[in-house]
Amino acid sequence: MNQYILQTALAIMLFPTIDCQANTGFSVQFPPDNSFVENEQISIVLNLEKQAVDGIQVITGENVPTEISVRPDSSNACFGVTLNKGMNTVNLLGLKQGKVVVREEVKIFFRSALFPKFRDPPADFNRYFFHLTNNEKSCAGCHRMEPTLSSLRPGKPEESPCYDCHTKKFINNTFIHNPAAQGTCFACHEVLQGERKYTTPKPDEKVCYPCHNSQVKEWKSKKIMHGPTAVGQCTLCHNPHGSERPALLRMQTTDLCINCHEDKASGAHVIAGFFGKGHPVRGVKNPFNPDREFTCAGCHNPHAGNTQNLLNHDNSNMAVYCTHCHKK
Ligand code: HEC
Ligand code: HEC
Ligand code: HEC
Ligand code: HEC
Ligand code: HEC
Ligand code: HEC
Ligand code: HEC
Ligand code: HEC
Repeated sequence: MNQYILQTALAIMLFPTIDCQANTGFSVQFPPDNSFVENEQISIVLNLEKQAVDGIQVITGENVPTEISVRPDSSNACFGVTLNKGMNTVNLLGLKQGKVVVREEVKIFFRSALFPKFRDPPADFNRYFFHLTNNEKSCAGCHRMEPTLSSLRPGKPEESPCYDCHTKKFINNTFIHNPAAQGTCFACHEVLQGERKYTTPKPDEKVCYPCHNSQVKEWKSKKIMHGPTAVGQCTLCHNPHGSERPALLRMQTTDLCINCHEDKASGAHVIAGFFGKGHPVRGVKNPFNPDREFTCAGCHNPHAGNTQNLLNHDNSNMAVYCTHCHKK
């Protein structure tokens, strides 16, 4: 990054190194301690004292510790950390020639609306929004913070003004949502100046509608809409950027459903009045799509339908119902 070298050279010329008496090593600039976020990935930005450390070890809960090397003349260290749902204590150990010389920690809560356990951060934790004018100022020396019109549709993803810091959104998943892979982040994130820059309209449906209007229109024309789809909360179930699973799902489908329908987890409701303890709800093939696992969605439409219970097949005659998949 030529710009970076230039900036650092400038910084060194303008602000010659001061000999520090009490060498604390580094301080955590972002994220603020005792804050909460709703994303799995966050970035840590440290302010370094010159030559104080040559490496940082990062320990987050049970995750495998990672080590980041620090360039000798750097004033900042920036790196990403993966959080676990709920409370995370990120331990940052400053290393000098292999020895720990300084230690800092940041507490950060990863809130997830899907899990009752992880829904409520401690009362004294604040929501962390990064893209505020004052925060951005401290990065502008080395990173491009003001997108231009032409960067709205980058020729290559790497040219996006978001790529430096949010690389994982572009490349990290098995299934990447088409507009994210293209780097057209602005298809969904509005460019706003100042407060709450880059937020997306709520409910999510508004964001999805321009490109998925045929689907959404069709669902709205059905007799019954599924609760969360009806209120437009698409990203409860879908990750708008990418996922390890087909259909950009946040979790394996059955696990996803039983977050809100725990009492259906065994599949017992399917065969009530028939026989056995439960119906398979995972781990077998979907008879209509052998490439996919058979899950709750094998019988229920997650968006909308014309039958009570959003069934994919009419069940007014239960004996006939079973034969859609169980040939006699
Ligand atoms: C002194 C220059 C400098 C400043 C100031 C700076 N950065 Fe960086 N940042 C870099 C460089 C250089 C990289 C490329 C990664 C590397 O090689 O360390 C980077 C990479 C990053 C990354 C990607 C890290 C990863 O591992 O994925 C993030 C996120 C980031 N910076 C955020 C910030 C934020 C937020 C600020 C402002 C609070 C900031 N940076 C300020 C120089 C800087
Ligand atoms: C200098 C690094 C940097 C750049 C460049 C950057 N971001 Fe961020 N962004 C961050 C950090 C740091 C956060 C806080 C969450 C985290 O750590 O990932 C964040 C958070 C966000 C959020 C969540 C809301 C918020 O304000 O915290 C959105 C949305 C977002 N960025 C969108 C974008 C988009 C779109 C672009 C490109 C135009 C972009 N960002 C460019 C560093 C950056
Ligand atoms: C299809 C629409 C869409 C596209 C394209 C998109 N986003 Fe998002 N993004 C969203 C929505 C919606 C949210 C809010 C999610 C929520 O409320 O759970 C979000 C949240 C975020 C966040 C904060 C939460 C998190 O998951 O980290 C960041 C950072 C972010 N987007 C960056 C980006 C970047 C960078 C790009 C371009 C590669 C991008 N987004 C492309 C819809 C999109
Ligand atoms: C800028 C256009 C655009 C926006 C906005 C957009 N999408 Fe998409 N989406 C696409 C494209 C293009 C595809 C790939 C189409 C295909 O393969 O059929 C896609 C595919 C998907 C898929 C995967 C389909 C599959 O069968 O694997 C899901 C799920 C999805 N989008 C959900 C959403 C959600 C939820 C939102 C709103 C948060 C959204 N999309 C907003 C363009 C968009
Ligand atoms: C309750 C969870 C849930 C909600 C809420 C939800 N979806 Fe889905 N969606 C799914 C599941 C599960 C699949 C995969 C279905 C399958 O495997 O047959 C899917 C599939 C999709 C697909 C792929 C093709 C298709 O038509 O089936 C698109 C596009 C999509 N959803 C968009 C959306 C949009 C837009 C919204 C919001 C209006 C939304 N979804 C709300 C769970 C959900
Ligand atoms: C083999 C097909 C099948 C599978 C798999 C299946 N269901 Fe059902 N589900 C049904 C049928 C049939 C009914 C209607 C039962 C009735 O009328 O009593 C139903 C009813 C329901 C209802 C509404 C009834 C109520 O009591 O509120 C919910 C919610 C539900 N299922 C959720 C799930 C979830 C979650 C899963 C996955 C863990 C799942 N189902 C798996 C067939 C299935
Ligand atoms: C975020 C919570 C949430 C998730 C996740 C969720 N549901 Fe639901 N579901 C609801 C709500 C809310 C209702 C409406 C409850 C009511 O009206 O009593 C509902 C209703 C239903 C019904 C009954 C529909 C009717 O009115 O006849 C079925 C069937 C169902 N869900 C299946 C599923 C399946 C299958 C999944 C996974 C793909 C799923 N749900 C995921 C919240 C959720
Ligand atoms: C949408 C498809 C579908 C429908 C409808 C359906 N099933 Fe199934 N069922 C399956 C699949 C897939 C399996 C797993 C098949 C396998 O093991 O090869 C299964 C397995 C079973 C099993 C376990 C068999 C075993 O060997 O473990 C029973 C019992 C069962 N179903 C009963 C029923 C009954 C009763 C109904 C009607 C109320 C019904 N199913 C409706 C798809 C369905």
